Parts: sequence; structure tokens; C-alpha cells
Amino acid sequence: MYTDLDVAHLYTLLNGWSRADDFYLARVMASNRVLDVGCGPGQLLRRARTEGHAGRLVGVDPDQAALTLARHDSSIEWHTGIAATMSFAAEFDLVVMSGHAFQSFITDDDLVASLAAIHRALAPGGMFAFETRNPARREWEDWAAGEPFSTIDHRGIPVIVSYQILSVAGDIVTLTETTATPDGTLLRVDEGQLRFIDPTLLSDLLVTSGFSIAARFGDWDETPFDPDAAELITIARA
Ligand SMILES: C[S@@+](CC[C@H](N)C(=O)[O-])C[C@H]1O[C@@H](n2cnc3c(N)ncnc32)[C@H](O)[C@@H]1O
Repeated sequence: MYTDLDVAHLYTLLNGWSRADDFYLARVMASNRVLDVGCGPGQLLRRARTEGHAGRLVGVDPDQAALTLARHDSSIEWHTGIAATMSFAAEFDLVVMSGHAFQSFITDDDLVASLAAIHRALAPGGMFAFETRNPARREWEDWAAGEPFSTIDHRGIPVIVSYQILSVAGDIVTLTETTATPDGTLLRVDEGQLRFIDPTLLSDLLVTSGFSIAARFGDWDETPFDPDAAELITIARA
């Protein structure tokens, strides 16, 4: 069996430092008070601290196991919880959501409540930076066609990881991640959902929530967003 902590370790192994992290890190380093919503194992804020960030760094995530890994850096505040129920008030210059955490907001109610809490958390003029995959690219079809792949987990044991799309309903994709041993013994199946929100709807919701859109990029090199881009990276001002 694979525990929640094993899954958190595997997530860290499969999601190493990337161009996206460089994009966010530059902004974190330029901001004194930073909130990372859906921080997972906390890789971004922990790197910011080791690179000399001296201000307030706060991570929020509902996943206790991921936070167990994040808490290796105790100079950072780690809170268990979801975005919608955060109670920070005008405390941050920057809120980030990296690693497509924004796509975890599935229902309209959760999305609106989460945007309201993020807006409340920001000082006036503060920035919210996040990305969501462009639905026009239908990336889930590539995942469905993808072959299982093998990797070595944190204990040095070979595991096979595969993804299966269970359903696509409107803009919500339901999928599973399966971890098994090379001889086919099942270790774990996790089911999750991701919302591939329409870019126009997203802009409307941000504006309704009190944000203005400062920039929209289609790539981590700050290429402007276009309808064929893989990512919709948004910088919104509160
Ligand atoms: C794909 S991980 C990204 C983790 C991290 N930001 C990164 O870049 O590696 C998405 C994270 O969002 C968290 N999450 C899911 N629903 C959430 C919610 N409603 N509010 C805040 N975080 C949430 C999950 O627990 C998970 O750790």
C-alpha cells in the first residue's frame, strides 16, 4: 500500500523544479509578504527562503501529508485548509497558485468564495499570480493516450504510474492516478478532478471579484496569451 505521505513524496519526485517555478520565484523574491495557496509540499516558498527571502512567507493547503514535507522549513507559516475559508485580511503583497492548483476549484461556488478570500488576503494593489491550462488545447486527451511510465520512488523502489480519464463533463475532467509495482501489484489509485475554465469566464469572474487583469501570458517566457497557448497565466491586481 501507498500512504498519503508516499504520494506526497512521489508528487515531489515527479514535479521537479521547472520554468514555471522560475516565473513564480522571481515574483516571490520581489514581494515582501507572500501567500502560496495550494502550496503542496511547499517547494516554491522553501526555495525562496533558501535564496534569501527575508519577509513573511505563508503556505496553505488541505493536504496534511504534503504539509508534512513543507514543514521541514519551520521559518515559513504552513496552514492546513482550503482557499475559500482563509481569513487573512489585507496581509499580503502577492498571492500565488502554482502547479495548476487553481484548477482544483471545481464548482462555481468554491471558485467565487476562493477568489473572494484571495482578494481579502491581499493588501490594496496586491497581485494574484496563477495559471490554468487552456481548455482549447484539450490536454486531457494527451494524458488519456499516454503510456504508463516507470520511476524510482523516494524509497528507491521502482513504481509504474499511469493516468486514466474517467469522464469529461463540461469543463470538468475526472481522472485517476494509479501507482503499481512493475509486476502489476496495485499500490494506490487516487481519483481527482480538474476544471479547465474558459478564459473569458475566468476574466469575468476575476473582475466580478474585484480584480483587474494586469497581464495574461501563454508561456513562462511572458509571451502574451493567444487562443492556442497551452497555459493561461494570469497576473491580476486587487
Ligand atoms: C498540483 S498541486 C500543486 C502544488 C504546488 N503549488 C506545486 O506547484 O507543486 C495542487 C494542490 O492544490 C491543493 N488544493 C486542492 N484543493 C484546494 C483548495 N480548495 N484550496 C487550496 N488548495 C487546494 C492540493 O491539495 C494540492 O496540494
